[in-house]
Amino acid sequence: MSSKEEKYRELYAQAEGLMKGESDVVACMANLAALVHEAMGFWWTGFYRVVEGELLLGPFQGPVACVHIGYGRGVCGTAWKERRTVVVPDVEQFPGHIACSSLSRSEIVVPVMQGGEVVAVLDIDSRDLNTFDDTDSRWLEQIVALLPAMKP
Ligand code: SME
Repeated sequence: MSSKEEKYRELYAQAEGLMKGESDVVACMANLAALVHEAMGFWWTGFYRVVEGELLLGPFQGPVACVHIGYGRGVCGTAWKERRTVVVPDVEQFPGHIACSSLSRSEIVVPVMQGGEVVAVLDIDSRDLNTFDDTDSRWLEQIVALLPAMKP
């Protein structure tokens, strides 16, 4: 049985290989979402990109999700506004949580930074409480840093 740390280490190496030489950010987001989702067994794994002043649904794995999220709204909009990773052990305890799926119980949102600005977020939902911790934050921040630059 491999620990979460070991799984992420392997995942990071695979992500590096997948991103190597690729320049289309949407294609890379699609592969990263699939890689993380499959390897870790999450409920929903995907990206929202900052487009025209809001978060717009991007490549993801899992059930259908809300398309538009405003600045400062929900967990995703909060991670964008506060420019930091947000870990939510119990979504029912997060004021303003946006429930795309009633089965989601805990969540992590990691901002994708470019030139000091948030250009996208990686959002992951789990069907269990307390799924995410510092290990997830640390590795997921490194994994999204592998994404190529988004074109202006
Ligand atoms: N729960 C998120 C919305 C996106 S879905 O989980 C895919 C939020 O509160 O921002």
